Amino acid sequence: MKSEYMILIWKIFHLHLASLVPTIVVSSTDVAEKILKTYDHIFANKPHNEATHYLAYGQKNIIFAKYGPYWRNMRKLCTQHLLTNQKINSFQSLRRQQVELMIKSLQNEGRVVVDLSERVASLNANMTCLMVFGKKYMDEDLKLYFKKLFI
Ligand SMILES: *[C@@H]1O[C@H](CO)[C@@H](O)[C@H](O)[C@H]1NC(C)=O
Repeated sequence: MKSEYMILIWKIFHLHLASLVPTIVVSSTDVAEKILKTYDHIFANKPHNEATHYLAYGQKNIIFAKYGPYWRNMRKLCTQHLLTNQKINSFQSLRRQQVELMIKSLQNEGRVVVDLSERVASLNANMTCLMVFGKKYMDEDLKLYFKKLFI
């Protein structure tokens, strides 16, 4: 029992990314499987707080919803319809196109210092918004939508 516990400690560790974000790292597939499948009901539950309550419509999204029938139904919807290989692959050309646009943009700027983290974050936001909303996040009506949502 003791040695099993010691092995577990080596496979799971707790970090604070950038000294702020508490993060748990699981470094083995067998422990990850236990967390994500066997004990999913324990790890899937989220603590209630005011911010997530208001931002997620009373904790009614897949990220902040409390574990229960509603969350299980949302997860089923995601795994069976939204996050299937077919769905993910259907956006491959869109992702490729956005990466090519970013590379061309970098080439056109010539030899200047570039904040690549900012560009990759922007690329990620553009690809995510294109896949979810069909528009880039800078598009005016999408900006208005986010303004209404957060103000
Ligand atoms: C993201 O989209 C905006 C709006 O079209 C554009 O200005 C920006 O360059 C794009 N970002 C990247 C990394 O391509």
